[in-house]
This record gives sequence, C-alpha cells and structure tokens, in this order.
Amino acid sequence: MTATIERGAATAPVKPSGSAKTPSPRRSGGFLGSSNGKKAVMAVTGAILVLFLVGHMAGNLKSFFGAEAFNTYAEFLRTMGEPLVPRRVLLTLVEVVLFASVVLHMWSAVSLARRANKARPVKYAAKRKSQASGYATHVMRWGGLTILLFVVWHLLDLTFGVVNPAGWDGTPYDRLVEGFATSRWWVTAFYVLAVVMVGLHLRHGLWSAFQTLGLAGSRSYRPLKAVAAVVSAVLVLGFLAVPVAVMIGVVK
Ligand code: HEM
Repeated sequence: MTATIERGAATAPVKPSGSAKTPSPRRSGGFLGSSNGKKAVMAVTGAILVLFLVGHMAGNLKSFFGAEAFNTYAEFLRTMGEPLVPRRVLLTLVEVVLFASVVLHMWSAVSLARRANKARPVKYAAKRKSQASGYATHVMRWGGLTILLFVVWHLLDLTFGVVNPAGWDGTPYDRLVEGFATSRWWVTAFYVLAVVMVGLHLRHGLWSAFQTLGLAGSRSYRPLKAVAAVVSAVLVLGFLAVPVAVMIGVVK
C-alpha cells in the first residue's frame, strides 16, 4: 500500500497557535508564567523586603537611646493606625504582606532556576561556566535558606520570646538585651552569620535587579555595583551594631 503524501506538507508553515500540541512556554500561565513576569514578582517582593529591612534596621538603632525609647517604638508598631483601626491591625497587615512577599520571592526564584535548568539540560563540559555565577548561585540559594531559618528562630526569640531568657512577659528591650547576653554568644554568632548572608544576598539581588531593569550599561556598570555594595554594607553594619553593642555592654 502506498501512502499519499500531500505535496509541500513537510515544508508547510507550522500553525502559530491553538492547534500546536506542545504549548509555547511563553504562553502558558500568562504574564506570571513568563520569565519576565517571574522577574517582576521577584523585583517587587525584593523591593518590599528591602524597605522593611531599612525600616527595621533604623528601628533597632533606637536601642542606643535606652529602654524607654526602644519600648515606645515597639509599642508604636503595635498601635499604629489607632484610633482609626484597632491595636495591631496595621502591624498584622504588614506581617501578612511580608509573609506573602517572602513566599512569592522564593516561588519566583525556584521557578526561574528550574526554567534555566530546563533550558540547559546538558551540563557545561567545563565544570563551571564562571566563578561568579557559581558563587552567586550558592550565595542566593544557601544564603536564602539560612535567612529563612534565621527568621524563624528570630521570631521565636525576639518577637514571641519562646527561646529568649526574658520570655513573653519581658519588654521588647529586655528580650533584646537578654537575648544577646555574652553567655548566649552562639545566638549572637548565628545572628552575625545570618546578617552577613542578608548583606551578600542583597548585594547580588540589587545588582541583578539593576541588570534586569536595563540600568547597568557600560558607563553605569561600576557605579551601580558600588551602590549595591554600599547599600548592603550599611544594612549589615546597622544590624550588627545592636548585638555587638549589647555584647560589649554599651546597650544594657
Ligand atoms: C541583628 C539584627 C537584628 C535585630 C537586633 C533585630 C531585632 C528585632 C526585634 C527586637 C524584633 C521584635 C520587635 C518587637 O517586638 O516589636 C524583631 C522582629 C522582626 N525581625 Fe528583626 N532584628 C534583626 C535582624 C533582622 C533581619 C536581618 C531580618 C530579616 C531578614 C529580621 C526580620 C524580623 C521580622 C520579620 C520581625 C517581626 C516583625 C513583626 O513583628 O511583624 N530581623 N527584630
């Protein structure tokens, strides 16, 4: 039996959409399914988290002005919005936005990494394409995971007082001072490690965001790299100032 082959079938143009059996990866999932959509989610949630970190660092520095100043600030966080909204409502809203930002930030990171792996199913012949990409991948993945574990510990320690000597009944200032006591040096060491990870994560994240936004041209390359490094260093130093000050007895 002879099969009839339609003339020109092999060279006929492929129908653009709908009839194709394998959907185009760019079309599945709409904007959020596309690489650009995921990068936008990562950038917006990253910006929310950076804003939180700047505010949080500035708030922590209130501890240098004494117990009253710090506790007043902590109380303000719980009462902001009053009397328009009841106590803690605005703070809870901030917490929900922060939590959603962390989840979405991680989701976009994981799905972008999966997509990059799928696009390159065969590993590079050379062990690593460049030192920089290997380093950045490690900092972002392991650093991100360390930060996540740290935040869980940190909430149990300084927010809920579950693992803090001053406990739930103490004031936020008591928890801060007792939490970083010299006898608990290992807790402080974990904080130092986590904050340095936050700094490295932020430096690379900011730099990636500048590149994604198309800002990092040949003239702006160095200045923007410096901006990412300086912003991250200021945050790291600002965060570390408090545990160090408690350890050496400046904040007591
Ligand atoms: C060594 C540096 C840090 C110190 C001394 C510190 C201190 C504190 C304190 C005292 C609180 C409780 C505030 C209160 O009860 O009102 C708190 C809450 C919190 N911290 Fe930190 N923190 C540090 C670093 C960080 C970092 C690096 C992150 C994130 C990566 C972070 C995330 C949070 C979060 C999410 C909360 C809960 C905020 C809320 O109540 O909604 N902290 N921190």
